[in-house]
Formats: sequence, C-alpha cells, structure tokens
Amino acid sequence: MEEIMKTLIILAHPCEDSFNRAICDEVKQHLEYKKHDVKIRDLYKLKFDPVLKEDNYSSFYQTELPKDIKEEQDYITWAENLVMIFPTWWNGMPAMLKGYIDRVFTNGFAFRFTKGESEGLLKEKKAVVFQTTGQPEDIMKPNQLVSSMETIVDVGILDYCGLDVITHKFFFSVQHINKEAREVMLKEVNGIVDIL
Ligand SMILES: Cc1cc2nc3c(=O)[nH]c(=O)nc-3n(C[C@H](O)[C@H](O)[C@H](O)COP(=O)(O)O)c2cc1C
Repeated sequence: MEEIMKTLIILAHPCEDSFNRAICDEVKQHLEYKKHDVKIRDLYKLKFDPVLKEDNYSSFYQTELPKDIKEEQDYITWAENLVMIFPTWWNGMPAMLKGYIDRVFTNGFAFRFTKGESEGLLKEKKAVVFQTTGQPEDIMKPNQLVSSMETIVDVGILDYCGLDVITHKFFFSVQHINKEAREVMLKEVNGIVDIL
C-alpha cells in the first residue's frame, strides 16, 4: 500500500491576500496532489496566544502543559514534515511565530538535556522554511541579514531540536515584484516541496 506522508504547515501571516498565504495554498495543493495528508496551523486565524507568561513559564521546563500547547505539540508529533511560512519582520520572524516556538518547543518535547548536553527530540522529521522579504537580496546578503536568519532559524532552532532542514528558501522583494514574477516563485515552491 502506498505510504501517506504527513505534512504540517505552520503559517504566520495575518492577511488572507498575502503572498505568504499564496505560498501556503501552493504547498498544500501540491502536496495533496502528491497524496500527502496536509494539516495547516494558521497561527493568526487560530488566535494563537504567543506570549509565554509567568503562569505557564514552568511548562517550558515541562511540569504541566497548557491545553493549547499540548494540542500544538500533538500536531507536531503527528507530522513527518514541517513547513514553516512567514514574512521577515525586523530581520526576523513575526513575534507570533517566535512566541509559538517559545511556548510549543518545550524542554522535554522538542529537546532535552542529558548529562549537561542538549539533545533534539524532533528527529526523523524534515523541515522546509519559506521566508519572504521586502528588501532585495543584494542589500540583505552583503549585510549578513540572510545568513544571520538562516543561522538562528535553521541551526539555532530547527537543527537544535533534531529536525533535518531540507531548505530555507527566501523570496526577496516580494511586495515590489509583478504577478508574473510571483508566479515564477510559486512554481519554485512546488519544486522545493517535491523533495518531501
Ligand atoms: C512589521 C514589519 C517589519 C518588516 N521588516 C522587514 C525587514 O526587516 N526586512 C525586510 O526585508 N522586509 C521587512 N518587512 C517587509 C515584509 O517582509 C514584506 O512585506 C513581506 O515579506 C511581503 O510578503 P507578504 O505579501 O506575504 O506580506 C516588514 C514588514 C512589516 C509589516
């Protein structure tokens, strides 16, 4: 019997008509065509609470998990592939997604310390990252703005948690380009998720 791959998309963009949403739709459509079981966590639509507060700070250290966090962790546990889609805001990810990681990627779930060494617990899962920017590549790259975000997201977060980062794809200058250029980018999206 043909194996069905399970893919979780985590989308962090507030607007329905955004290019990020178009990427999300493209990933979903293409992977469903390839017979993946695709689930989407649309963080703004879910009204996800991204603020790690005092009352659930201890959950980071895995004493008791709030219900909304347990639910998100169950989605991640279910998935074989994670696809993260987000715009660049102030040279990083939107606070919504950062807060999702702060609250959901808890110690004991996403990683743990054994004999003083950290160990990623989301092994055997693949990750693909799509990140859009307003600034052009030739401004961002010489200023190390791309490499710094790759380091933080791919090395500092995903690889740290044991995920195998397949691609971190940047789409540059997206609000300044025309419809045709956007279509070319969306075709590239298909080629990238084909690896999954
Ligand atoms: C709060 C905010 C901060 C932003 N900061 C940056 C930035 O640091 N670098 C950049 O290239 N673009 C920045 N932008 C532009 C967005 O990255 C760009 O509009 C987005 O990637 C376009 O995709 P969308 O159509 O899906 O929103 C920022 C936009 C907002 C709203």
